[in-house]
Amino acid sequence: MNSKTILVTGAANGIGEAVSRQVVAAGGAVVLVDRDADAIAAIAADLSSGRRQVRPMTCDVSNETEVKEVFRRLHEEGVHIDGLVTAAGIDIGGAAHELSVEDWRRVMDINLTGSYLFCRELLGRLVQEQRPGSIVLCSSPAASVGFAAGGATAYSASKGGISAMVRSLAVDYAQYGIRVNAIVPGPTETNLMWAAVPEDQRAAMRNQIAQEVPLGRMASPDEPARAALWLLGSDSSYVTGSHLVCDGGVLAKASISV
Ligand SMILES: NC(=O)c1ccc[n+]([C@@H]2O[C@H](COP(=O)([O-])OP(=O)(O)OC[C@H]3O[C@@H](n4cnc5c(N)ncnc54)[C@H](O)[C@@H]3O)[C@@H](O)[C@H]2O)c1
Repeated sequence: MNSKTILVTGAANGIGEAVSRQVVAAGGAVVLVDRDADAIAAIAADLSSGRRQVRPMTCDVSNETEVKEVFRRLHEEGVHIDGLVTAAGIDIGGAAHELSVEDWRRVMDINLTGSYLFCRELLGRLVQEQRPGSIVLCSSPAASVGFAAGGATAYSASKGGISAMVRSLAVDYAQYGIRVNAIVPGPTETNLMWAAVPEDQRAAMRNQIAQEVPLGRMASPDEPARAALWLLGSDSSYVTGSHLVCDGGVLAKASISV
């Protein structure tokens, strides 16, 4: 990450925060983007030491005007972005016939359109400035299979869109030296994972996950973050349009037990 500047959305928590911390630990600079201004300010204060550059920027990733303003300000400040990780995301569960169209749109707006807007702005800059880059989006096993627990219609559709977009962008922008890949995290200890689960049901669910995930546990946010770091860096220089699955074996396993 030496001399690289990486923009991370969803940097206030979970996988995005872990990526941001690892970029700085690896000698890179990071732009922290999240709607939670206080949290990214606190992380920036924690990470800013010596010559390391950490820049918090508050933004709702689903708001086109705010996304454009992030890039306008970075341009004005002479900050060149080399890599992007779009980790901002939400999950609103519910059976399809009970889901409101507002909730459906909210999930699409943040997970899919938010990722698209950041890709679009960065790709435009990189092409114009004739610079290479590496973009990492966050997909999910839900892009490929239905969750046995159910109620993941909107979330799955948004992640399926991410996976399709990764392949399409990878093909379109390879000619510019810009790589586009996805990480596919399995169940990871973050706010998003537990958002829809009442406190008193979490221990039982953790136990069930431990029994059903081949590696027998949930991931820490650092584990998918390390996969993202590899895709950002030059060690993955011939990798584009791919999905790096970091799911403890979930997708490799048939759920039927006979
Ligand atoms: N945790 C998991 O088990 C898991 C599994 C597979 C994929 N993922 C994906 O990984 C990504 C990161 O998830 P996480 O588990 O770290 O979640 P998290 O809830 O810990 O963090 C998500 C971050 O996104 C931010 N955010 C949400 N909406 C935003 C908006 N409109 N504008 C700006 N910021 C916004 C939140 O403030 C938060 O800081 C998501 O795309 C998620 O779908 C997570």
